[in-house]
Amino acid sequence: MAKYIISGGKKLTGEVYIPGAKNAAIKMIAAAILTKKDVILHNVPDIVDVQSMLQIFSDLGGTAVRQKNTLILNAGNVRSTNPKQEITKKLRASVVYAGPLLARFGHVKMFHPGGCVIGARPIDFHVKGFVQLGAKAYINNRYYEITADNLTGSKICFDDFSVTATENILLAAVLAKGHTSIRLAAFEPEVVDLIVLLKKMGAKIKVSSYGQIEVDGIKKLNGAEHTILPDRIEAGTFIVIAAATRGHFKIHNFIEDHNDLILYKLAEIGVKFKLHKNMIEILHPENSYHAVTKIITRNYPGFPTDLQAPMSVLLSQAKGKSKIVETIFENRLQYLHELNKMGAKAKILDSHTAYIEGPTKLHGTKIETLDLRAGATLVAAALTAHGESIINNVEIIDRGYADFDTRLRALGADIQRLSS
Ligand code: EPZ
Repeated sequence: MAKYIISGGKKLTGEVYIPGAKNAAIKMIAAAILTKKDVILHNVPDIVDVQSMLQIFSDLGGTAVRQKNTLILNAGNVRSTNPKQEITKKLRASVVYAGPLLARFGHVKMFHPGGCVIGARPIDFHVKGFVQLGAKAYINNRYYEITADNLTGSKICFDDFSVTATENILLAAVLAKGHTSIRLAAFEPEVVDLIVLLKKMGAKIKVSSYGQIEVDGIKKLNGAEHTILPDRIEAGTFIVIAAATRGHFKIHNFIEDHNDLILYKLAEIGVKFKLHKNMIEILHPENSYHAVTKIITRNYPGFPTDLQAPMSVLLSQAKGKSKIVETIFENRLQYLHELNKMGAKAKILDSHTAYIEGPTKLHGTKIETLDLRAGATLVAAALTAHGESIINNVEIIDRGYADFDTRLRALGADIQRLSS
């Protein structure tokens, strides 16, 4: 188990470069199953979730060559449709292999996905969607098996917005016979970027209005080359670190259009920033910060659930009481217990609602990483706190942030990684 030892309270300054988005890269690797030709991805982040998706890709028979931040994927020799349990249980996104395997081979048998423990995270929307496309599904509590002689386009209406269910159905519908209309489709920038890649591969997809995607299936997809969009969640994490430590950073590869609500909330709190082309500069603040009435997580373009936890570190430094409402997942406020150990004043009212009152002087202590974003949150808190913090189980953070400690040290942070 690896840990970070952080001596907080340092003023951080400098520049960071945001890599390609985790939640786009890992789906695009699965999308490469849809063709026998090369799919070339640029700006691929060097994170553990990407390595896990590549492990599944090569176990299935595909080849993947990495040259710095570029991946050359070829699924010409893929024969297996049974990803191995040891890997699929490591990450939620393994489920998005189901759509491409079903579309190309008419079969997939896969163990239930793992991933961050932030809520129940069932896969019923995915399975119902495949069945509506004409597949047959068998599910027990260990695995699911889906078969289809021919997938046929259909109207699919999800019960609620779901990022991976939208992506999975898209990945199947592009090779289905006829027209598919997906209603209540998620519209996160990463979903849109996946659509861009699929269209480069020849897929016929149209976003007809918000929450509605139309797909005309075709027989065969081609290879393509694509540069993955920057990771807005990593950018948001660095923004919080800059603002909470009252530092001064330039964050490159920041897309203003993907972050409207973050910018709105930063302005409400009193964080000073300047927007440049593809860059945000968080300025050293002369003022104090104010609480916000409410942060409520929603599907895009709402406030992202993945930044709910990091944002609370900033709210712990703001004067007054802020309300946090987590609407997407029912177990994503537990990290607040760890923040309270550091001196924060947070109160969890129920599994979706909490208050945090500030400003509080955070102090270093021993804390546990619960999930990926909660882990990054504790790093932000430890950098803001006075004294030494020990954060255990930081391998979870490696799933989504490449070289986190090295990049933070380059900004002046006192952070060491110890493996035991
Ligand atoms: C994706 O998870 C992301 N993961 C998550 O990022 C992100 O927090 C989430 O979308 C919301 O933006 C990946 O892209 C790999 P959902 P996903 O399906 O797709 C319920 C991170 O830290 N639901 O949009 O799993 C579900 O329980 C991660 O990078 C069903 O009920 O989320 C949840 O309450 C964590 N049945 C809601 O829908 C289903 O079949 C939204 O989940 C599917 C989902």
